[in-house]
Amino acid sequence: MINNTNDIFNSEFSRNYDAYNGRLGEIGDNLHLLISLLLNDLPQQANILCVGVGTGTEILRLAQRHPEWRFTGVDPSPDMLAVCAEKLEKAGISSRCQLVEGRLDRLPVSGDFDAALCLLVAHFILDAERYGLYDQMASQLRTGGRLVVAEIAGEIDSPAFDEHMAIWARMHEVAGQGTRDPAEMKAQLAERLLLLAPEHTEALIARSGFTPPLRFFQSLLIHGWSACKIAPAAGV
Ligand SMILES: C[S@@+](CC[C@H](N)C(=O)[O-])C[C@H]1O[C@@H](n2cnc3c(N)ncnc32)[C@H](O)[C@@H]1O
Repeated sequence: MINNTNDIFNSEFSRNYDAYNGRLGEIGDNLHLLISLLLNDLPQQANILCVGVGTGTEILRLAQRHPEWRFTGVDPSPDMLAVCAEKLEKAGISSRCQLVEGRLDRLPVSGDFDAALCLLVAHFILDAERYGLYDQMASQLRTGGRLVVAEIAGEIDSPAFDEHMAIWARMHEVAGQGTRDPAEMKAQLAERLLLLAPEHTEALIARSGFTPPLRFFQSLLIHGWSACKIAPAAGV
């Protein structure tokens, strides 16, 4: 069983999520530009899985550029999914999107997705093995299919982490959260999230049947990786 998601993805949070993220738009723009470049070689009618799709930012960004791609978004928060569904409808793309309420293990294993994205989700899963999330994503992908992951990562006890936290606090101030104390923010992160060292996540991904992950993105504590599913060994 995967743990709860800290009850933070409620109605109020869901309604404010995009506006808050928008104030840090340059970071998101960079991440999504690079993801779009990573996925550039997918087939014209690619099938994309978005785990923890939230309010659907990743679907909307990709759907605009790729009019024939189809999307499946999975998320345990009905409130986040409600906002997502409204946005997909408004953008006129809901006919090529399927939303599933629940965690990834709710979805029948298809093995035919061309890419699987999991953006800003894994740090909410309070288990150092992420309860097999990357194994599940590998099962949903075709051989050669592309994994794209972004999560908050870092070695919380290292001096470098505190330096990052100082800027992290300033970044949240810029995003309109008022004065933030880095030490207090660090304590909150440690209480609510499970941050893994980047190398730990890389090992989890590689162990789940992917090529060695490429760390294609870092903005302070937000790290992004991409890898491709390798062919399962014969007889497996
Ligand atoms: C910070 S939001 C990210 C949403 C979207 N991917 C984005 O980049 O804007 C995190 C999302 O992960 C979802 N989530 C939390 N735990 C999850 C889990 N174990 N499996 C799948 N999704 C999960 C939450 O409900 C929430 O919608």
